[in-house]
Amino acid sequence: MRPDPDCSLCPLCSGRTNIVLPDGNPAPGIILVGEAPGENEDLEGRPFVGRSGKILGAMMEEAGFDRSDVLITNTVKCRPPGNRDPTGEEMAACRPFLESELMDARVVVGLGKSACRDLMGYDGPMADVVNIPTTICVGDRDVPFIPTYHPAATIYNKNSRAELKRTMQILKGMME
Ligand code: URA
Repeated sequence: MRPDPDCSLCPLCSGRTNIVLPDGNPAPGIILVGEAPGENEDLEGRPFVGRSGKILGAMMEEAGFDRSDVLITNTVKCRPPGNRDPTGEEMAACRPFLESELMDARVVVGLGKSACRDLMGYDGPMADVVNIPTTICVGDRDVPFIPTYHPAATIYNKNSRAELKRTMQILKGMME
């Protein structure tokens, strides 16, 4: 299930250039969920092509895989103005599209607070949950879920960088 090209289910439609749909390979069932498209993603129509995407791609490469080995998506498919966090209402409006992307997932990774809020209903410090596997409900199924830091949160923080690298190693382990 994909948004209509003219989707206007939430107010984010008024500022978008492109709806940003998932990118990568759904077959292995490894799905990374970010927050929302930024400026570059809005312009190109692909998730994680800007600075955060470069960080994420480099960490995947270091762990021994490529972004084309996983599916990458976001909680909302349109860019929030000024890159603010998506609201609960915006995430709820986009949720049916995300649910359909996660339907066959083997593991879902929540990149950062917004993804963890949307998918786990968790609103506390990331440090308390990072890389601790849990499950989320997708349709009528419990799906393994790994909460971790958003790539942007690793830019000036060594610990979050180490944790996100660890997440990538966990995923690599699941591919073997
Ligand atoms: N940050 C996100 O959370 N998602 C993107 O697609 C780009 C940056």
